[in-house]
Amino acid sequence: MSKLSSDAKTSMKQLTSFPSLRTAIIAFGGAAVVLVTSILAKPDAPPPPPEPLNGGATYVGEAVCVACHQTQNKQFTHTVHANAFRLNPKNDLQKHSCEACHGPGSNHLKDPISPSNRVSLIGYTKEWGTPVAQQTAMCMNCHEGGQRMFWQGSPHASNQLSCSDCHNPMAKVSATGLLKKQTINETCYTCHQQQRADFAKRSHMPLPEGKISCVDCHNPHGSTSKTMLKTDSVNETCYSCHAEKRGPFLWEHAPVRENCLSCHNAHGSNHEKLLTVARPFSCQQCHDNTNHQSNLYNAGQLVGGGAAPSTRIIGRACQNCHSQIHGSNHPAGARFQR
Ligand code: HEC
Ligand code: HEC
Ligand code: HEC
Ligand code: HEC
Ligand code: HEC
Ligand code: HEC
Ligand code: HEC
Ligand code: HEC
Ligand code: HEC
Ligand code: HEC
Repeated sequence: MSKLSSDAKTSMKQLTSFPSLRTAIIAFGGAAVVLVTSILAKPDAPPPPPEPLNGGATYVGEAVCVACHQTQNKQFTHTVHANAFRLNPKNDLQKHSCEACHGPGSNHLKDPISPSNRVSLIGYTKEWGTPVAQQTAMCMNCHEGGQRMFWQGSPHASNQLSCSDCHNPMAKVSATGLLKKQTINETCYTCHQQQRADFAKRSHMPLPEGKISCVDCHNPHGSTSKTMLKTDSVNETCYSCHAEKRGPFLWEHAPVRENCLSCHNAHGSNHEKLLTVARPFSCQQCHDNTNHQSNLYNAGQLVGGGAAPSTRIIGRACQNCHSQIHGSNHPAGARFQR
């Protein structure tokens, strides 16, 4: 995406700086110019910041803001931004402090309360009404790239989330990351109730225990994968901690290589070991018409059926015998029994 847009920019530059081309376009008439520029402009996803910012306001300096907004300033003082901007500003933008994020403030001072005057200042609350694209553009002035390489087009950006839906730079609420809630997980749970429920299930990744967090697997700012995983695939994500499951194995079990989620839930499950389906049904979803495993039950074999229950149901079910279900390195491990 970024490559496309920079290409578009350079070719746009070439067009406008190349005299003969420019004349040619003029000769084609306004319609052609509109057509060409609209085609060229299309890949440029981030909308341009408002021009001029805050209705042509000028910077007034943070001392003026602080005079009215003392409470906000008290909390802001404890944040990394306050430290960076006040103690060691690296450029002019950082020196603007409050106005680095809220934009130049002179017009805001004229009539701070009038709703019609709200175009005169960038606000980050829903009530203030600044368009989301304008809000994120302010933060992106300093935080473009890095983890936010794939922000544009990510599920969060497409659903009109603003940086301030997760971050609150006005106060130090979390130990790191200037988040809205005290922890990463709580920040995510404010919207993702289903996942809160998943992680409360009987078997779950140790996230409520504080061993891992959502961002061990996801990049909430977007990634190359649809579900914003930090790696290209589900399996790569799992291997990053469960390295032994990567193999290589002499005898591979096809569904393990294909996708761990063939058998496991990523967040939590009411079946043991995060399994999507209880054993032995988990196995029987795929192994339904081969030899012994399909003819599993008769009344006598079921638990409480009179006879000794089948080894294929009790305990670890199929894995009583096929124990090396993720793959085997034993020369005789073709059936994952060793
Ligand atoms: C004369 C006092 C005064 C000064 C100086 C002042 N403000 Fe305000 N500001 C207000 C008042 C009053 C409101 C509340 C307006 C409302 O809620 O309708 C406000 C609202 C805001 C908001 C609210 C946005 C929201 O989302 O609700 C922001 C941000 C803000 N000011 C930033 C600044 C900045 C940055 C400066 C310095 C450039 C500044 N203010 C200077 C009085 C002032
Ligand atoms: C790093 C960017 C950034 C800087 C610097 C910054 N703000 Fe904010 N400000 C925000 C964001 C984001 C919000 C919305 C917070 C929220 O969602 O509650 C906000 C909210 C506000 C609000 C309205 C909500 C509230 O907390 O009452 C005021 C007023 C305000 N800022 C004033 C200031 C002043 C004064 C300064 C300088 C001392 C300042 N801001 C510096 C980003 C910034
Ligand atoms: C003028 C530049 C500038 C702007 C604008 C800006 N930031 Fe920052 N931000 C910084 C600097 C400098 C740091 C200090 C850490 C660093 O060196 O990267 C920082 C740090 C952060 C951190 C990391 C905090 C931590 O504890 O590690 C977050 C999160 C953040 N900014 C979010 C935002 C958001 C959200 C906005 C928009 C509302 C914003 N920033 C606007 C310059 C900026
Ligand atoms: C869906 C929630 C969410 C949204 C939306 C979001 N962030 Fe973050 N951001 C996080 C979390 C979670 C962290 C990790 C915090 C930690 O490690 O403590 C983070 C970390 C950061 C950091 C510090 C780490 C780094 O990359 O340097 C910065 C800066 C940052 N975000 C900026 C932004 C900006 C700018 C936006 C808007 C374009 C944004 N974030 C939108 C959740 C979010
Ligand atoms: C302000 C609400 C909000 C917050 C906070 C939030 N999200 Fe989201 N998230 C959404 C919306 C809306 C979508 C897109 C709709 C959907 O698929 O549920 C989404 C989508 C996602 C998806 C992709 C789902 C898919 O099917 O493609 C993931 C993964 C995700 N969020 C993770 C996180 C993480 C991790 C955090 C915390 C750092 C977080 N979200 C915080 C609102 C939020
Ligand atoms: C152990 C890694 C891991 C952790 C930790 C994790 N996720 Fe996920 N998440 C995944 C995987 C893998 C998927 C499925 C991806 C796919 O199917 O492509 C997923 C899917 C999602 C989805 C899409 C809908 C769904 O449930 O399938 C959302 C939303 C989501 N995660 C949010 C979160 C939130 C919020 C947290 C933290 C509370 C979190 N995740 C923690 C790995 C993880
Ligand atoms: C950030 C590291 C991390 C990632 C990534 C990760 N896991 Fe885990 N996983 C753990 C930890 C820690 C445990 C708990 C181990 C323990 O308590 O001994 C665990 C436990 C498990 C368990 C056993 C649960 C139980 O009830 O005993 C399964 C199954 C599992 N993970 C599957 C997966 C799958 C599938 C993925 C990829 C979607 C994945 N893990 C990604 C860290 C991770
Ligand atoms: C064919 C179904 C299946 C697939 C696919 C699968 N697993 Fe498992 N996994 C299981 C079963 C069944 C158990 C319970 C094992 C037991 O009781 O011995 C388990 C247990 C685990 C455990 C906890 C016990 C242990 O062996 O460490 C982890 C961690 C785990 N799986 C990770 C993964 C990862 C990572 C992937 C993808 C590379 C994956 N699994 C793919 C069926 C599967
Ligand atoms: C998502 C589908 C799927 C699931 C679930 C699944 N398997 Fe498999 N399994 C396969 C495929 C595909 C093969 C390879 C078959 C082949 O090569 O002919 C295989 C091979 C095997 C083999 C070796 C058989 C052979 O012919 O080489 C055994 C044993 C086996 N699976 C046992 C299990 C057990 C036990 C479970 C439950 C823990 C399970 N499988 C779950 C798809 C699955
Ligand atoms: C009592 C031990 C035992 C249990 C329990 C068991 N198996 Fe087997 N399984 C075997 C043996 C022995 C073989 C044949 C091995 C060989 O030919 O090398 C086999 C072979 C297989 C094969 C290879 C293809 C075939 O039909 O020969 C598959 C697939 C399989 N089992 C799946 C399952 C499934 C699914 C379950 C659970 C419903 C299960 N097994 C339970 C012992 C067991």
